[in-house]
Amino acid sequence: MATTTDVAAPKETLYEREARSVSKLAHLRFFPLAVTGGKGATLRGDDGRILIDFSASWGAASLGHSHPAIRSAVDAALRDQAGASYLSSANLPAIELAEMLLDLGPARATGRVWLGHSGSDANETTSRVVRAVTGRPGILAFEGAYHGGTSGSMAFSGHPSQQEARSQHLTLVPYPTSSAESTLRVIDDAIARKPDYFGAFFIEPIQSDGGMLVPPPGFFEAVQRRCRDNGILLVSDEVKVGIGRTGVLHAFQNFGIEPDVLVLGKGLGGGLPISAVIGPEWLMNDRAGFSFQTLHGNPVCAAAAAAVLRTIDREKLLSNASKVGYCLKESLNELAARQPAIAEVRGVGLALGIELRNEALPGVTARELTARVVYRAFQLGLVVYYVGVNSNVIEITPPLNISHEEAMRGVEIIERAIEEVVSREIDLDGYQQFDGW
Ligand SMILES: Cc1ncc(COP(=O)(O)O)c(C=O)c1O
Repeated sequence: MATTTDVAAPKETLYEREARSVSKLAHLRFFPLAVTGGKGATLRGDDGRILIDFSASWGAASLGHSHPAIRSAVDAALRDQAGASYLSSANLPAIELAEMLLDLGPARATGRVWLGHSGSDANETTSRVVRAVTGRPGILAFEGAYHGGTSGSMAFSGHPSQQEARSQHLTLVPYPTSSAESTLRVIDDAIARKPDYFGAFFIEPIQSDGGMLVPPPGFFEAVQRRCRDNGILLVSDEVKVGIGRTGVLHAFQNFGIEPDVLVLGKGLGGGLPISAVIGPEWLMNDRAGFSFQTLHGNPVCAAAAAAVLRTIDREKLLSNASKVGYCLKESLNELAARQPAIAEVRGVGLALGIELRNEALPGVTARELTARVVYRAFQLGLVVYYVGVNSNVIEITPPLNISHEEAMRGVEIIERAIEEVVSREIDLDGYQQFDGW
C-alpha cells in the first residue's frame, strides 16, 4: 500500500535547477527552453521533445548540432594540443585558418587576420585599431545596429539595448528604409562638418538585431564611394549574416561592394567561440601587444572554424542556404498574404525576418504579440526568437544545412502559432515571465 512518503517528489526541471545556480545577467529568454542535446537542425529539450531550431543559437551553430566534421576537428586538435593560445606561440590550426580566410576574403582586406572569441571582441578590436593607427577618433554606424555586448563594441552600436556605453565619438545615422537619399544626406553632412575625423564606417550588410533590415538597392555602393572619397575604412560586420548564411560566403557580396575590413564571428566557429578580423597589413600589423585575451587563437577553436569553412564547401551549403532560404521566404510570403498580422517578410538566404503588426490583436502591442507567437511556437515544437528596435520581428537564422522538409515544418508551426495567438484560441499562461528584449 502506498504511503505519502512513497510518492516521488516531482522531478526538478533543468530550468528550475538553473535558476538556483546560474546568474541571469547574460539571459535573453523567450520561453523555458532547456536543452539536453541536438543533432543537425534539431534540439532535444529536457522534456524529451525534439524541436526544430530556426535560430541556431543566434546563428552560431552554422553546421547545426553535433556535426561530425567539427567533432573530429576538435578531437584531433585536442589529441596533440598545440598549446591553448596564439599570444606567445604560433600554432598550425590558427595559421591554417588565417590562410584560408585570406584566400576567401575580400581583396582589399587581404593582409592579416586577427583571431578572437566573439563578434564583440572582434568589433571592439577593429574600432580600437582603426583609431590608433589612423589617428581618426570618429566612427559612423547605423541607428539600430548591434555590434557587440562589451563596452568597447557597445560604444559604437546603435541598438536601443546598448545606450549605456555609447562613445562621444560615435555618429549614428538613420537606417535607410524605402529611400537612400535622406540617409546619404545625413552622412554627407556629418563628413563635411568634420573632415578627417571619421576613421571607420561600420555596416551590417543586413541589420539583423535591428530587425533584419535589407538596404535599398545601390545604397551600400553610395556609402562605399563616400568612404573611399574621404579616407574612411568601410568595415563589414558579418558576425551574424556572414559565412554562408545569405547563400554567398560573405554577405557584402550581395551588394556589389568590397569592404576594407571584414569582421566574422558566430557561425565561423560552428558553435565554438572564435571570431576574426581580416584587414590590410598596414592596419593589422602596425603594432603588437595591442588587443589580446589569453585564449585567443587557440588551436581547438581554430580547427573547428577551419572545419566549418571546409564543410561549407564540401557539403555545398551555400547552395542549400540559398535554395532552402528561397523556399522559406516564398512560403512565408504566401503566409503573409493570408495572415494580416504579418507586416513584412524580408531578408536573404537563411537570414530572414517576419515583422508582425498589432492591428491583428487590438489592445496588444506588436512586441507583445511577437512575444506570444514565439512562446506558442516553442510549445508547438519550434525554437525561434525575435529582434528589432521595436522587438516585433521574428528572426530566422537556422543552421546552413537545414533541410527543406524541416524548414517547411517550421513555417507550418509559425502559421499555427500566429493563428492561435491572434484568435485567442489558447491560454498562453507563462509567456509574461520572459523578458526577451
Ligand atoms: C552583427 C553583430 N555583430 C556583433 C555581434 C556580437 O557578437 P557576440 O555576441 O558573439 O559577441 C552580434 C551579436 O548578435 C551581431 O549580430
